[in-house]
Amino acid sequence: MDKLLIEGGAPLHGEAAISGAKNAALPLLCAALLTREPLTLTHVPRLNDVDTMLGLLEQMGVKVFRETGVSGRADESTVTLDASGLDNPVAPYERVKTMRAAILVLGPLAARAGEAKVSLPGGCAIGARPVDQHIKGLAAMGAEISVLHGYILARAPRQKDGSTRLSGARLFTDMVTVTGTENLMMAACLAAGETVIENAAREPEVVDLANCLIKMGAQISGAGSDVIRIRGVASMHGATHRIMPDRIETGTYLCAAAATGGSIRLTGAAPGSLDAVIDKLTESGCRITIESDAINLAAPQRLTSVSLRTSPYPAFPTDMQAQFMAINSVAEGTAVIRETIFENRFMHAVELIRLGADIKIDGNTAVVHGVAKLDGATVMATDLRASAGLVIAGLVAEGETVIERIYHLDRGYEHLEQKLGALGARVRRLR
Ligand code: EPZ
Repeated sequence: MDKLLIEGGAPLHGEAAISGAKNAALPLLCAALLTREPLTLTHVPRLNDVDTMLGLLEQMGVKVFRETGVSGRADESTVTLDASGLDNPVAPYERVKTMRAAILVLGPLAARAGEAKVSLPGGCAIGARPVDQHIKGLAAMGAEISVLHGYILARAPRQKDGSTRLSGARLFTDMVTVTGTENLMMAACLAAGETVIENAAREPEVVDLANCLIKMGAQISGAGSDVIRIRGVASMHGATHRIMPDRIETGTYLCAAAATGGSIRLTGAAPGSLDAVIDKLTESGCRITIESDAINLAAPQRLTSVSLRTSPYPAFPTDMQAQFMAINSVAEGTAVIRETIFENRFMHAVELIRLGADIKIDGNTAVVHGVAKLDGATVMATDLRASAGLVIAGLVAEGETVIERIYHLDRGYEHLEQKLGALGARVRRLR
């Protein structure tokens, strides 16, 4: 397994371009299932999770084309999907267990094919992550749903006119769920009648998906608010859509620059999608200036500790919690971090303690006393964003840090070591 070797102590300086958002790309790829016509997505990030999702769609009968770039080199960032040959509405365990976002095929398959057999995603390192809200919503839309031998079996009901179609319904999710909102919004696009999703997730990736679905002929209003209305249509058509910038990648690089006392400029960003993160970095002493599609950050000599509480968008994102635990580890003062979304998302804490951090965990609260310096050591990545936190700590720690199991990082950060290297970080991948 690959490892990352980091020689800490170099402040980050320079410019980096932000890639397309992983958490927008994954539902957008599944949206292709809703139509017989080609869906072209641009600015698709080159990530393992994207490759996994494309593989899953191909084995369902979806044709995937990666357009050849001008140089003749496959311009992998443009992907066209053609689901006219969809003939196998199954997401097998082997695929789903490596990427739980595969659950996002459930809604589109039930809507387009009238049936779906999708493996229950297992839990993952950060929590049980059930999908009961996805199932409850589809059942409310008339789907005959059962869970058997680890698979969700869904079948659309027969309507009076003989078609097998889901029915519009008023849905209320027990908690804010991002992929739950996305699954149900996609299912509702082809349902008979109107669907209202209350307590909907307001994440920018939900809005990006809605914008693409509307280009494909869906009738959606309210995306970005907690009430989304979808009027079902008989069929949808192809479209071309550019994937929004990755706000978590953006926040991660901002934290890396903040922790190392550097100053960077991130281009191709969506500053409006990470206000809470920018607010906390400003509170920690960073000077941040915003342009329409770029963010500039200049870090102070030493950060001031910032406390935070993760919550659904637009509040502070749970996907940035590990990164902020890392920067608080070397900040001046004490920070209290509350994780309210996932039940086990502090695994990076014990790894940071190996690097010399002073962190006390009590349930879903972590108290971080900033220390003057961290010392390089070998640490282990446990999940995608925990790994990002360890990279930031490694960039700051004195001496060498080796991060093991960095396949977690490759799931969500495109060309990580190249981008960090271009910013002056001393990072090397050990095969
Ligand atoms: C999405 O996961 C993201 N993944 C996660 O990013 C992100 O951390 C999470 O939203 C929260 O923002 C993608 O978009 C692909 P949820 P999702 O459903 O949709 C509970 C990353 O690193 N819940 O919003 O799976 C759940 O257990 C990943 O990029 C139920 O109980 O998260 C959690 O406690 C990690 N039943 C809370 O709700 C359900 O049916 C929020 O989960 C659904 C969710």
